Amino acid sequence: MTSTIHHIQGPKNPLDKLGRPLHDLRISVMDRCNFRCPYCMPKEQFHDNYQFLKSRERLSFDEIVRLTRLFAGLGVRKVRLTGGEPLLRTNLADLVGDLTSVPGIDDLALTTNGVLLGQHAVDLHANGLRRVTVSLDTLDPELFTRMSGGFGALDQVLAGIDAALAAGLAPIKINAVIERGVNDHTALDLLDRFRRSDVIVRFIEFMDVGNRNAWRPEMVVPSAELVKRVQERWPMHPVSENYRGEVASRWRFDDGVGEVGFISSVSQPFCGACSRARLSSEGKFYTCLFATEGLDLRAPMRAGCSDSELLEIIRGAWTVRADRYSEQRDSLRRSDPGHKKIEMYYIGG
Ligand SMILES: C[S@@+](CC[C@H](N)C(=O)[O-])C[C@H]1O[C@@H](n2cnc3c(N)ncnc32)[C@H](O)[C@@H]1O
Ligand code: SF4
Repeated sequence: MTSTIHHIQGPKNPLDKLGRPLHDLRISVMDRCNFRCPYCMPKEQFHDNYQFLKSRERLSFDEIVRLTRLFAGLGVRKVRLTGGEPLLRTNLADLVGDLTSVPGIDDLALTTNGVLLGQHAVDLHANGLRRVTVSLDTLDPELFTRMSGGFGALDQVLAGIDAALAAGLAPIKINAVIERGVNDHTALDLLDRFRRSDVIVRFIEFMDVGNRNAWRPEMVVPSAELVKRVQERWPMHPVSENYRGEVASRWRFDDGVGEVGFISSVSQPFCGACSRARLSSEGKFYTCLFATEGLDLRAPMRAGCSDSELLEIIRGAWTVRADRYSEQRDSLRRSDPGHKKIEMYYIGG
């Protein structure tokens, strides 16, 4: 496993309409979550009677491994397991073990809210996981509870991070979504706590997810503003990209203790280098985080399609891809201020 990954453009690897290769696959293994972060799964919509998938509707581990093998044949090298909350999926470590042996996949990572990480860190590491990202927006317990939709568990998340480090999953990344007027005043506390450790904090601009999460442009704290605030406290300098299309811009502290990342999908959209595909837990293939519709891969798979037929379906979908929602966001919103037409289905992760 390595973080310096370069895309190898093989003769059979498809390019989309904008010349982008297929390199990363984010697999949602579980649509349910044990949190209700208002920016992602607001309680009002994901309420007690919300119809999540039944277990037979989710892709089985065998189906996920089969599709991953096919995606690897089309150029995918990096896989990230996400959700919902991926650690709610029973025996996730078994899937990790299976995926690490898929030829071509040289980077397997997991994004989790960390609540169950303490229970599973050792097994995940033993089965070959080497990279984990934990979502943690603030260290303020009350604010944490609010930002998780009332669930609390900050101590469990912190214990999960410690357990993951102890299990050998270092360095760990932390994803912190920053919302103006909500948690931006606590952002630097995360750096204060983690910058001397094997934990790399990355600040994420609050993204619009259709009209589900009451997003307003003024709630976004542009990375440039956060960079300035961090600079004032701890001088730092930018570090060059590890690889083309890397989502975070990275900065290293001048005093030599650690680094910080900024993910600026709102203020500096990076669609032009996006080589990412998404697979939902029910087996739909999406070519954009904000896609409206996915292509069902479960139905043809369960109807008995061969590998080569499935490969053609996936290749066909990638080659017609022209989406670049983040770059078009401003003009779409201007032409449709109520953004009824741009209610996007957000495939987390
Ligand atoms: C959808 S979650 C799924 C995995 C897991 N439940 C977790 O929270 O890490 C993946 C990532 O998406 C981020 N995310 C969700 N909604 C977002 C939004 N509106 N803006 C920016 N990031 C968001 C979360 O903070 C998290 O880091
Ligand atoms: S961000 Fe992660 S933890 Fe929060 S509601 Fe979404 S899926 Fe759950």
